Amino acid sequence: MERITIKTTPIDGQKPGTSGLRAKTRTYMAPHYLENFVASIWTAIGGVEGKTLVLGGDGRYFNDRAAQVILRMAAASGAAKVIVGQNAILSTPAASNLIRQRKADGGIILSASHNPGGIDDDFGVKFNAANGGPAPEKITDAIFAATKEIESYHIIETQDIDLSSTGMTELAGMQIEIVDPVADYVAMMEEIFDFKSLHDLFKTGFTMRFDAMHAVTGPYAKAIFEDRLGAQTGSVINATPLPDFGKGHPDPNPIWAKPLVDLVMSSDAPDFAAASDGDGDRNMILGRGIYVTPSDSLAVIAANAHLAPAYAEGLSGVARSMPTSSALDRVAEALGIDCYETPTGWKFFGNLLDAGRATLCGEESAGTGSDHVREKDGVWAVLMWLTILAKTRKSVADILADHWKTYGRNYYSRHDYEGVDKDDAIDLMDGLRRQLPNLAGHSFYGHTVAKADEFSYLDPVDGSEAEGQGIRVMFDDGARIVFRLSGTGTVGATLRVYLESYTHREDQLAWEPGRALSNIVAAADDIAGIKQRTGRNGPDVTT
Ligand code: G6P
Ligand code: ZN
Repeated sequence: MERITIKTTPIDGQKPGTSGLRAKTRTYMAPHYLENFVASIWTAIGGVEGKTLVLGGDGRYFNDRAAQVILRMAAASGAAKVIVGQNAILSTPAASNLIRQRKADGGIILSASHNPGGIDDDFGVKFNAANGGPAPEKITDAIFAATKEIESYHIIETQDIDLSSTGMTELAGMQIEIVDPVADYVAMMEEIFDFKSLHDLFKTGFTMRFDAMHAVTGPYAKAIFEDRLGAQTGSVINATPLPDFGKGHPDPNPIWAKPLVDLVMSSDAPDFAAASDGDGDRNMILGRGIYVTPSDSLAVIAANAHLAPAYAEGLSGVARSMPTSSALDRVAEALGIDCYETPTGWKFFGNLLDAGRATLCGEESAGTGSDHVREKDGVWAVLMWLTILAKTRKSVADILADHWKTYGRNYYSRHDYEGVDKDDAIDLMDGLRRQLPNLAGHSFYGHTVAKADEFSYLDPVDGSEAEGQGIRVMFDDGARIVFRLSGTGTVGATLRVYLESYTHREDQLAWEPGRALSNIVAAADDIAGIKQRTGRNGPDVTT
């Protein structure tokens, strides 16, 4: 066993995006790519010497290899301890929990979230800070700066560490604690929720289907829904994590989880269905005959959070990302609590959660969570819904109908144009920016623009600013269009168009979203010239 120093040179494009550095797996496997990035993390956090880290990932192709390299690099640079999930597996929320529980200095999560995995697909590395949340921009900027200057890194030359059973081991003086990835997480869920009342719900014959999409939540979902809560065996499907996720996109939305949507729309529909993504932080919620949009799910959870023991005292405040619908705002208003609007990216919730200003937060991109960890949490969201179903004994469809009756309905849809030429996408956004001063007062298909701007955020806790966070066109009837370029794509640019309209008229609450949004969709194309600038006839993905 020998500590060696390897000479290297900077590699272009190692700028962490919304959620870590994602790249093609082969790129990650190329000489020095992973090592340069990891060494740059050490630099950005002021060195890893004497520190304790958490390490794990979603089990995708290269997860095991990358974990070995990171352990050897941490040991070579003097880390005191690494707490690693058995077989290098940890869901993102479980990793966030471990960082917090063990008071670690941070953690490294190996995942490209909902992007496909495999040698020809995607890999990713994300650094989470000591609060358990994604590194703030200050740190990701420092990582990027370090990737541009790196000249060498340290690593231990040794054989693989056996990560297949739990327990303690060591490497060159660094402790390695191999933990059951599921146990601490389940214990936390038992504190937050009333497992007994959920168990009672299943005893009534309540049926559920959870699609783990061959990704990391399988073991968590089986342990909780089937073993603890008594859901029928087989309620959790695609429950074994596979390196290529069964060649699917582990993205819980109506496109990639279509079989589950088809099931709830069929005569065999269970009472409740849900899915999670590659690393377990996203969720999709379905009921018999109904798909719940993430924005509605967030609002319903906020309105009913007091039904779960951990939130019985009420919420300190709530937060949503800017493109998420304002259904949450209406609930916050009724509860008399603050509702914060942040840029896209879970990291922006961190300060609000740490400061106790928000208890619950969520995003249109299928993320919902609370202050129990500093990441969104798919299984937690499912337990929240099960709690609402157990306490109200209503169907998912009735819960939504009642919610809309009380608060009005924000119809919502997101149109994604994927793999668009980068320059075309930048031109489209520039074109929009130029129109901003002149849009107010103009009408499109019966909707009049009240205000148009480019969203920027001033963090009320630390005063940091984030600019250029999406272009908003707001109409005087509560409708809104947001244009934004994705920060997580790996090929070309992805244009996201977020469409929203609002009604409180009882006779309009049960429309097809397509009907309610058709004018707004047409307005978006008129304003941005999407068809003309991208050459596309329609979106690749609609959620
Ligand atoms: C990741 C982050 C989310 C964020 C999403 C946005 O999933 O964890 O917090 O909402 O990316 O992705 P986008 O592709 O729209 O930048
Ligand atoms: Zn994810």
